[in-house]
Amino acid sequence: MNNILQCPACGREDFFRPNDFFCPACQQPMWFKPRSVPPLEFKERASSSLEKFSACLPLRTLRSELGLGEGQTPLIPLNSVVTSGKVWAKLETANPSLSFKDRGSAVVVQKALELGWPAIGTVSTGNMASSTAAYAARAGLSCVLLVKKGTSTRALVSAAVFRPLLIEVEGDYGQLFRKSYELGRDLKIYFANSVDPLRLEGYKLTALEIREQLGQAPDYVYVPLSSGGHLLGLYKGFMELKMAGYINKIPVMVGVQAASCAPIARAFEQGLVKVIKIQPGETVAHSIANPDPPAGDLVLKLARENQAHLLAISDQEMLAAQSQLAKQEGLFIQPESAAVLAAFHQLKNDFSGSSVLILTGQGLKAAYQPSPEFRNYCQARVEELPALLSTVLPQ
Ligand SMILES: Cc1ncc(COP(=O)(O)O)c(C=O)c1O
Ligand SMILES: [Zn+2]
Repeated sequence: MNNILQCPACGREDFFRPNDFFCPACQQPMWFKPRSVPPLEFKERASSSLEKFSACLPLRTLRSELGLGEGQTPLIPLNSVVTSGKVWAKLETANPSLSFKDRGSAVVVQKALELGWPAIGTVSTGNMASSTAAYAARAGLSCVLLVKKGTSTRALVSAAVFRPLLIEVEGDYGQLFRKSYELGRDLKIYFANSVDPLRLEGYKLTALEIREQLGQAPDYVYVPLSSGGHLLGLYKGFMELKMAGYINKIPVMVGVQAASCAPIARAFEQGLVKVIKIQPGETVAHSIANPDPPAGDLVLKLARENQAHLLAISDQEMLAAQSQLAKQEGLFIQPESAAVLAAFHQLKNDFSGSSVLILTGQGLKAAYQPSPEFRNYCQARVEELPALLSTVLPQ
């Protein structure tokens, strides 16, 4: 079992310990030392992605009864996107708590029980909170959620239903993030935040699944970008597949931020090596609006080394993409997640080739007012229906 962390930025190594994985030399988050994907004997009847790819995870044994059926999400073609290449959507909305975060939470509970930690926790404004609480409930672990004051009721409810200790905290989010590790070490709560190395192990399985579903790596992978944890996990997955010879190239990653809060994309545009903390503006994209991303410098470095694109999308473009996915594809996706389609529209003239757009979160979870267009309904008496329908339905 691989228990060694490695800093992707400077190569330094250390043992894995919960709440303690930032490189002492360069302060970037470390990940489990990459290793070549072992021969993949795919388990046809696996009940989850973890079970299917358990040989690729840093776990002693896998307790499959702790799973909720995470992963193994559909990859479907997007029919409304007209381009010279092929475009697929990876539906991470099909995960048990409706977002990609479940892949990470599923690995975290396995390790917490393996190490005998009684409680897990996270600092989150939405998807990660509900996912962590769901998996803790399933595993019989206590759960502590530290959420930002002002988090929407909908987001709070989707976590509170699992009965975690839910604390709304006032103050700087970056400071809260760092403080959680200190609290975790003192109180034996494993704070599995966005860039935790075990979460990354869960996210890397998405890359393995895409390779399996397509029979090869796509040319491009589009993903919303906030703390950078998801993107790092995907990179790691493709790197490990390449080490094993399952693919011969790592896809070009396209990381998508919200224009009002895009510290990594701005630093990338400006050719900086460090991300500068920003004052965020208003955006509908709450779950990707991190003004001080903990893996920002590392994402910049990997993006440069691998010819990635990092770009910023306006709220208007995100909402238009959300609308396209709903009206033309039948998919209800959070705006911050639909941002990948808006990014595709921005870039598509630059290239052809195959693209996978990762749709990370389901629309119902989004904490914003739906556009008036969504309330496109009318009322009628039964006898009025024939006349009404004949005016609205296409002849
Ligand atoms: C729906 C959705 N997409 C994307 C992200 C961004 O992921 P990361 O913080 O790992 O970059 C988040 C983060 O919470 C999210 O909720
Ligand atoms: Zn380092």
